[in-house]
Amino acid sequence: MNREAIKVWSAPIRVFHWVNVIAILLLIVIGLIILNGKTLGITSDGKVLLKTLHVTVGYVFALNLFVRLIFGLIGSGYERFGKMLPFYQGFSRELMHFFRNKDTVHKGHNPAGKLMIAAMLLLMSVQAASGLILAGTDIYYPPFGNYFAKSIAVDQAQVQQIRPYSKENVNVQKYKAMRAFRKPFITAHVYAFYGLLILIPLHVAGVIVAERREKSALVSGMISGIKYLPKKPKE
Ligand code: HEM
Repeated sequence: MNREAIKVWSAPIRVFHWVNVIAILLLIVIGLIILNGKTLGITSDGKVLLKTLHVTVGYVFALNLFVRLIFGLIGSGYERFGKMLPFYQGFSRELMHFFRNKDTVHKGHNPAGKLMIAAMLLLMSVQAASGLILAGTDIYYPPFGNYFAKSIAVDQAQVQQIRPYSKENVNVQKYKAMRAFRKPFITAHVYAFYGLLILIPLHVAGVIVAERREKSALVSGMISGIKYLPKKPKE
C-alpha cells in the first residue's frame, strides 16, 4: 500500500507514555507485595519501607499523570482531550463503523482506543488521588501527611513524634476516626488496581490487533512519534 510517514505523537506524550508504563509496572509489583504482606511474612519496618518506595514511585506517576492531563487541556495535537476522548456526538456511530469496517485508518486513536484511554485515565486518576490520601494517612507523607499527623496528635507541638505504626503522641480516638476516613480510599485504590490489571493487558492486546489490521507501526510510533498511514487517512 502507498504510505506516508505522519508525525502524530508529540514528544511530551511519548515521554508521558513510557514513564507511565515503567511507573505503573513498579507500582503494581510493589503494590502486590504490600497487598500480600501478611502471607509473605513482611515485618512492620519492611511494610513502611515498601510503602515509602511505593509512594516515591507514586509521586513520579502522579506528577506525570497531572502533566498529561494539563496537556489534554492545552495541547494542540492528538494529545488534546477533544481528539482522544469518546465524549462527542456521533461517537457510537463511529465506533460501530470501526468494528464493521476493517480497513478504517486513524491518525490519532481509533474509537476503541478512545474508550480504552478514557477508562485508563479515569482509573489512573483514582489511583493517584486515593494514593496521595493513603500516603498521608498511612506514612504521613506529603501533600496531606502533616495535616493528618496534626489531626491525631495529642501534643500538636510534638507532631514530628508521630510515626507509621507507632502510638507515640497519638490520640487513639482521633486515630480510629482517621482510619475510618481512609477506608473508602483504600477500597477505591484496590478496586482501581484490579481494574487496571484488566485494562492494561486489554490495551496491549488492542494495540497488537490494531497493528495487525493497520500496519502503521503503532508501537514504534510511540517512540518516534511517527505513524505510517495510507496516503489519505480517514479521521
Ligand atoms: C497505577 C498506580 C498505582 C497502583 C497500581 C497501585 C497499587 C497499589 C496496591 C495494589 C496497593 C496495596 C493495597 C493494600 O494494601 O490493600 C497499594 C497501596 C498503597 N498505595 Fe498504591 N498504587 C498506585 C498508585 C499510588 C500512588 C500515586 C500513591 C501515592 C503517591 C500510592 C500510595 C499507596 C499507599 C500509601 C499504599 C498503602 C496503603 C495501605 O496498605 O495502607 N499508590 N497501591
